[in-house]
Amino acid sequence: MHKYLLPGFAMVLIAAFPKDVQAADTERGKLLYENHCMSCHESVVHIRENRRARALGEIYWQTTRWAVTQQLEWRYEEVRDVAQYLNNQFYKFDERLECK
Ligand code: HEC
Repeated sequence: MHKYLLPGFAMVLIAAFPKDVQAADTERGKLLYENHCMSCHESVVHIRENRRARALGEIYWQTTRWAVTQQLEWRYEEVRDVAQYLNNQFYKFDERLECK
């Protein structure tokens, strides 16, 4: 699983160059989140006062952490879609995840 996630993370870091980029599919991210993540925490965890994520990259990292813990075998596309969904919905950092 790591061999998929780590290259994905690298892609996110170099995503500042908008060439042939594919925007995140937040609809899919929403469904993935509802299916795999909401059994444990309601979305309130993302708006609590001492929430952990302070930037989009950290949401990405937390999503990776949970996907790995839950053995979901997500590729970076899934992680990206969920992270972008969470950002648009709750965190609202002025950033976008784009990966080839
Ligand atoms: C086994 C229960 C459980 C599952 C399943 C789970 N989470 Fe969590 N999650 C938690 C708990 C508890 C916290 C708060 C404590 C912490 O951050 O470790 C948390 C915190 C988070 C945070 C950090 C919120 C913040 O900004 O403070 C994110 C992001 C997150 N989860 C995403 C996900 C995603 C995405 C999934 C599905 C792939 C998921 N979680 C599945 C229990 C779970």
